[in-house]
Amino acid sequence: MPNTIRPLIAGNWKMNGLRASLREIRAMAEKVSGKDRPDCDVLVCPPATLLAEAVALSADSPLATGGQNCHVARTGAHTGDVSAEMLADAGARFVIVGHSERRSDHGETDGVVQAKARAALDAGLVPIICVGETGAQRLDALAITVVEHQLDGSVPQLQENEQIVIAYEPVWAIGTGEVATPADILRMHASIRDWLVSRLALKGQETRILYGGSVKPENAAEILALANVNGGLVGGASLKARDFLAIADAA
Ligand code: 13P
Repeated sequence: MPNTIRPLIAGNWKMNGLRASLREIRAMAEKVSGKDRPDCDVLVCPPATLLAEAVALSADSPLATGGQNCHVARTGAHTGDVSAEMLADAGARFVIVGHSERRSDHGETDGVVQAKARAALDAGLVPIICVGETGAQRLDALAITVVEHQLDGSVPQLQENEQIVIAYEPVWAIGTGEVATPADILRMHASIRDWLVSRLALKGQETRILYGGSVKPENAAEILALANVNGGLVGGASLKARDFLAIADAA
């Protein structure tokens, strides 16, 4: 299927960024508002401590902001956690759920990820649901099966007006400089598309599938031109406005 979906370039700052880094978000907001703005949607997900200020800096621009995680509950006795409603209240429009670092550092299962995605939707946020195989699973030729299984467990039932984004992030390509080959990305994204269409029908055809894992200005154009790649989820290269915007320009 040709890429007729408007791409989304999303930056995941992970546990990086102090107040001084807000200048990068200011630069992003200025660029996406300017006359040579990229022809795609641009989203930045800073750490929770910077979210409200990032929202304020991007208020007059199309730059969207998001959280990196949310709790499954709306409120309650969960010290240190942030709810989807809190993110929405701060001005976020998206939230990343089920990132492999959350799955491995915090033992998040598919069931937890699905509950987080549901909490995000209930708060009016678009969840970016992450899936991806480990290096060992790929070597065992299990990549497609593992990702299908993650989708089965992590994607909630959707109401008519609800949207989600899927991010395919092969674990072995995150922060390593290694990138999946174009053939592997094509095969995986086609498989995710088939899954989405079989479960969500028309909505599945319109759902964005992002690729993540060592996306850089140098490789972005090739990756983003592949069928069923509707944008990128960018870690390290999203911390500097110049690199991140170069990726957005490639979309
Ligand atoms: P890198 O772009 O640093 O590989 O990180 C990818 C990622 O995990 C984005 O969520």
